[in-house]
Amino acid sequence: MFQSKIAGIGHYVPKNVYKNEDLLKFMDTSDAWIQERTGIQERRYADRVGETTTSMGVEASKIALERAGITAADVDFIIFATLSPDYYFPGCGVLLQREMGMGEIGALDIRNQCSGFVYALSVADQFIKTGMYKNILVVGSEKQSFAMDFSTRGRNVSVIFGDGAGAVVLQPTEEAGKGILSTHLHSDGADAEKLAMYYPGAAAGFGLENTPKWPEQELGGMLMTAEMLEDGSAFPYMDGQAVFKKAVVKFPEVIGEALRKNNLQTTDIDLLIPHQANLRISQFVQKTLGLPDEKVFSNIQRYGNTTAASIPIALSEAWQEGRIKDGNLVCFAAFGAGFTWGSALIRW
Ligand code: ACO
Repeated sequence: MFQSKIAGIGHYVPKNVYKNEDLLKFMDTSDAWIQERTGIQERRYADRVGETTTSMGVEASKIALERAGITAADVDFIIFATLSPDYYFPGCGVLLQREMGMGEIGALDIRNQCSGFVYALSVADQFIKTGMYKNILVVGSEKQSFAMDFSTRGRNVSVIFGDGAGAVVLQPTEEAGKGILSTHLHSDGADAEKLAMYYPGAAAGFGLENTPKWPEQELGGMLMTAEMLEDGSAFPYMDGQAVFKKAVVKFPEVIGEALRKNNLQTTDIDLLIPHQANLRISQFVQKTLGLPDEKVFSNIQRYGNTTAASIPIALSEAWQEGRIKDGNLVCFAAFGAGFTWGSALIRW
């Protein structure tokens, strides 16, 4: 049985910076409200045309491959996590495969929203452990700006999210005790509608409150209607308080699970890289665990919440800043829509 290690890390963020003040021209909000509730000061939005979830994933992947010392031809499996795919189908994995000129390797898309990267990493880890693949490219990328409601009606959601991409290369290692020690995945669909984008979708609105009327026809045409854009139901919905309450419990719980599994203590963590959901959530988790500031990585101030891309972007920046050293214990933890949550413990 092999152990897997992160052999290369890269990230890409679009050049377009939107400060909190810049959002005032679209909606009734304020820098003070956003910073106080979320800690976010600015975020990046991809070019409306020409820049996609896949293209950003490609940019991050090129850096990760270079840092791993391999080429696109060496990659033998792709795992792509996103909630903002270029197409309803096919997924971004095959688009990245095509764009990077990779061979006819497998490409898997993961739809676990903010937990997407941790889920993707866990799947990749299993493939490496069994010896099935030797160079897996794991990507988290989001172009969330394409689907948000930038009017005052959607401000509780749109001010939080940003665009960007991160990628890692996973390889087997024979160094004992090094690499991914364990991953832990969970879900609870009881609150599936508390953080969701209902359309396009085949549920046809049944069971959902305040959904629009459907076109009167026998078949088809139920993915999205003009009425849904008009009444706002085509945009992401979030019950912010429900998310907050659950997240601050599940983050520490799943970090604790990882530590217990490896007979480690909270004090053994050298760097916690939480999904950058909201600075207040991260601070609550930090306090619960009793971790000092220097052991918790945050860049949400500059990028907002980039969902599946947030952990790999943060990891890439932490690594570039020299905050991850040989032998360090690094913990990833995520919580998001579904609800889904998870953690990964890595000995660098
Ligand atoms: N600017 C100004 N006012 C706003 C904004 C905004 N962007 N958004 C909402 N408001 C207003 C509301 O309209 C409401 O006004 P009212 O009192 O006149 O009706 C008021 O602010 C309070 O609204 P709430 O929704 O109750 O605001 P709350 O204090 O709960 O804060 C927030 C909202 C920041 C979303 C909070 O619930 C939270 O932090 N939740 C966690 C959710 C989260 O972080 N999600 C991240 C994405 S999911 C994930 O990654 C896990």
